[in-house]
Amino acid sequence: MQLQRLTGVAALLLTTSVRAAAVPQGYQTTGDRGNRWVNLTSLPTPRQEHITVAVDNNTIAVVGGVERIGNESVQERTVSTNLVELYDIPSDTWRTAAPLPIAANHPNAAAVNGRIYILGGLVNTQEPPTAEADWIATGKSYVYDLNSNNWTEVASMPNGTERGSSVVGVYGEMIYVAGGMTVLNLNYQDASTTVTAFNTTSLQWQRVPSIAANIPEGRQHAAGTVVGDTLYVIGGRWYERTNVRDTVFSLDLRNQTTGWQTSPGHMPTARGGVTGSAVGGSFFAFGGECNPNTTNGIFPQAETYDLDSRKWTRLNNMQVPRHGTAAVAVGNRIYIPGGGLQQDGVPIERNGVVSYGQATAHFDAYEVGI
Ligand SMILES: *[C@@H]1O[C@H](CO)[C@@H](O)[C@H](O)[C@H]1NC(C)=O
Ligand SMILES: *[C@@H]1O[C@H](CO)[C@@H](O)[C@H](O)[C@H]1NC(C)=O
Ligand SMILES: *[C@@H]1O[C@H](CO)[C@@H](O)[C@H](O)[C@H]1NC(C)=O
Ligand SMILES: *[C@@H]1O[C@H](CO)[C@@H](O)[C@H](O)[C@H]1NC(C)=O
Ligand SMILES: *[C@@H]1O[C@H](CO)[C@@H](O)[C@H](O)[C@H]1NC(C)=O
Ligand SMILES: *[C@@H]1O[C@H](CO)[C@@H](O)[C@H](O)[C@H]1NC(C)=O
Ligand SMILES: *[C@@H]1O[C@H](CO)[C@@H](O)[C@H](O)[C@H]1NC(C)=O
Ligand SMILES: *[C@@H]1O[C@H](CO)[C@@H](O)[C@H](O)[C@H]1NC(C)=O
Repeated sequence: MQLQRLTGVAALLLTTSVRAAAVPQGYQTTGDRGNRWVNLTSLPTPRQEHITVAVDNNTIAVVGGVERIGNESVQERTVSTNLVELYDIPSDTWRTAAPLPIAANHPNAAAVNGRIYILGGLVNTQEPPTAEADWIATGKSYVYDLNSNNWTEVASMPNGTERGSSVVGVYGEMIYVAGGMTVLNLNYQDASTTVTAFNTTSLQWQRVPSIAANIPEGRQHAAGTVVGDTLYVIGGRWYERTNVRDTVFSLDLRNQTTGWQTSPGHMPTARGGVTGSAVGGSFFAFGGECNPNTTNGIFPQAETYDLDSRKWTRLNNMQVPRHGTAAVAVGNRIYIPGGGLQQDGVPIERNGVVSYGQATAHFDAYEVGI
């Protein structure tokens, strides 16, 4: 392990450029047309493995995640956080909200009617936490009210369905939670196929029809959302970090007995630790982790999927490539606060200091031209 790290440093000293992956055949590379990146006021606290939701048309919330502390020259320590920061879109400013009652990373989250729902996530396996990531699932769930600025505990995820790093989508009063993981440590990461639903009226968990209760293959660190009547689970990985996938799974939420479908359209770049959101009939997927072609292990790719034609198109790479971040669309902008600048555990030297992970405060939005 240590030897690999030293080799990584040596490799890094030889080449620091980020090589863009070759474009697979059969994909258009029409570029970004009228789209553009917009830099915004940095996230107050650099972090990664958080979640981002749009509480209303003016407010974005960033909840949980991990912060990195300690001496960068040695293996960095990751600390799960309960921090909640709210971004006001019109004024481009941040403020701190009441903390989540637990420190959680990879939380599952959605916003419905001005309330944020945190539905499980990953927490430290032991306290105080080890320097290396060592996390297990919690089913603990909470609702936050923007007006009263407080968190209230609601029904936990049912026994056996506790997980984090799921794809979450809102459909009317229901929040769907698809896939995810229950264990993330240095040696092992699982991947869940489980699909469950939380009813924001009854504040109870509900089963989905058995034919819809499992995605076709386990996924964690995937992207996805609900667009119209359809829940999408895009990319991600099946067990471990390296088993990256390029699939698009979808479920018609009007008639869930049709079960999950797998799109004929595959992502140009299979990846996990990817994030994305939808604007105007297209899904946009950004970044990811475990790229063998970049020295920092990050996927810089931005790609878009047309939900009607089910075809993918390559866009220009992200301005600030990262993984472990979370995107949310409001209007025609996809907001992407923070994230990790390098694959966790891969040593990168900056200004003579080697670090094994670096979270950023960088905040930008991908604006889709209209
Ligand atoms: C890495 O680069 C090689 C050579 O260009 C390419 O064949 C491969 O698809 C790339 N892999 C990824 C994950 O981008
Ligand atoms: C946004 O910020 C990044 C990182 O500092 C920088 O590389 C990029 O040029 C900026 N882009 C714009 C459009 O200002
Ligand atoms: C948010 O904006 C959309 C589009 O302008 C509008 O349809 C919707 O009603 C707004 N939602 C709220 C809660 O104001
Ligand atoms: C970080 O740790 C290394 C190794 O223990 C030590 O040599 C160095 O002085 C420390 N740096 C700081 C800024 O504490
Ligand atoms: C949160 O605020 C609501 C509305 O003001 C109140 O009813 C509730 O008791 C508060 N919950 C907590 C945990 O403080
Ligand atoms: C879940 O399982 C634990 C022990 O495995 C048990 O103590 C608890 O009562 C169970 N909860 C429910 C809601 O069944
Ligand atoms: C959600 O719960 C409410 C209250 O129990 C119930 O009336 C409604 O049918 C439930 N919604 C769904 C989609 O099951
Ligand atoms: C729902 O899908 C099932 C399976 O494809 C089909 O048999 C049924 O007719 C559909 N129901 C409606 C209301 O569309």
